[in-house]
Amino acid sequence: MHQSVIVSPSLLSANFGNLEADVQMLNQSRADWLHLDIMDGVFVPNISFGIPVVKAIRKYSEKPLDTHLMIVQPERYIHAFKEAGSDLLTVHWEACTHLHRTIMQIKEEGMLAGVSLNPHTPISGLEDIINDVDLVLIMSVNPGFGGQKFIPRSLHRIAELRDMVDRNNSEALIEVDGGVSRDNIQQIIDAGADAVVAGNAVFRSEDPAAEIAFMKSL
Ligand code: DX5
Ligand code: ZN
Repeated sequence: MHQSVIVSPSLLSANFGNLEADVQMLNQSRADWLHLDIMDGVFVPNISFGIPVVKAIRKYSEKPLDTHLMIVQPERYIHAFKEAGSDLLTVHWEACTHLHRTIMQIKEEGMLAGVSLNPHTPISGLEDIINDVDLVLIMSVNPGFGGQKFIPRSLHRIAELRDMVDRNNSEALIEVDGGVSRDNIQQIIDAGADAVVAGNAVFRSEDPAAEIAFMKSL
C-alpha cells in the first residue's frame, strides 16, 4: 500500500511581514501540517519567534501546528504551547535531562509528543523511549537556520531508525527536517521517512502550492 508522505512546510522561510497570507496559501494547499521552528538563541545560535506568534498563526491555520522547540529546558513551556494552539510538540533529545517525564507531560496536555535528534546524536539513544513517543524528528542539518544543505549521512540514520521503530512495533512517525528538496526527497522516503519538513524548497519556489503537491505525488 502506498501512502503519500506527510508534508510539513516550515514557516521559518515564509514572509514574516505577512504571515497570514502564507498561512492562507497553506490552508488552500495539500500541506498536512505547519512546521513552526522555535529558537531561543541558546540551544541554537538563532532566535526565531515565540508563543504570541504561534497564537496568531493558530487563528488563521486550518492545519495542525507541528511545533519544533529548539530551546533549552523545553519542559518549562509545554503548557504555554498547548494554550497557544500546538497540536504536536517536539523537544530535543539533547535539551532534556528527563526526557521520559517531558514526553509524558506533553501527552498529558493532550498533544502529540515528538523527540528530535541533532545530526551527531546516536539513533540508539532512542531505544528506551521509542514506544513512548508519537514522532521522531531527525535533523538532517544542524538546527538553527533554514536553507542549509542536507547532510547525506542522514539517510543511514533514517533507515536505522525505521528498523528500530518496526522492530519495537512502535507507532512513532519518522519526520525529517533540513535541506529537503526535489533532489533528495525520494531517497528520504525510500529510507523510511513518514513526514518531511520543507522550508526553502516550498517558499523559495515560484509556486509553493505546486511544490507541495509535487511532494505529495511521490
Ligand atoms: C532548522 C529548522 C528547519 C528549517 C528547514 O533549524 O528546524 O525546520 O526551517 O528549512 P529548510 O527546509 O530550508 O532546510
Ligand atoms: Zn524544524
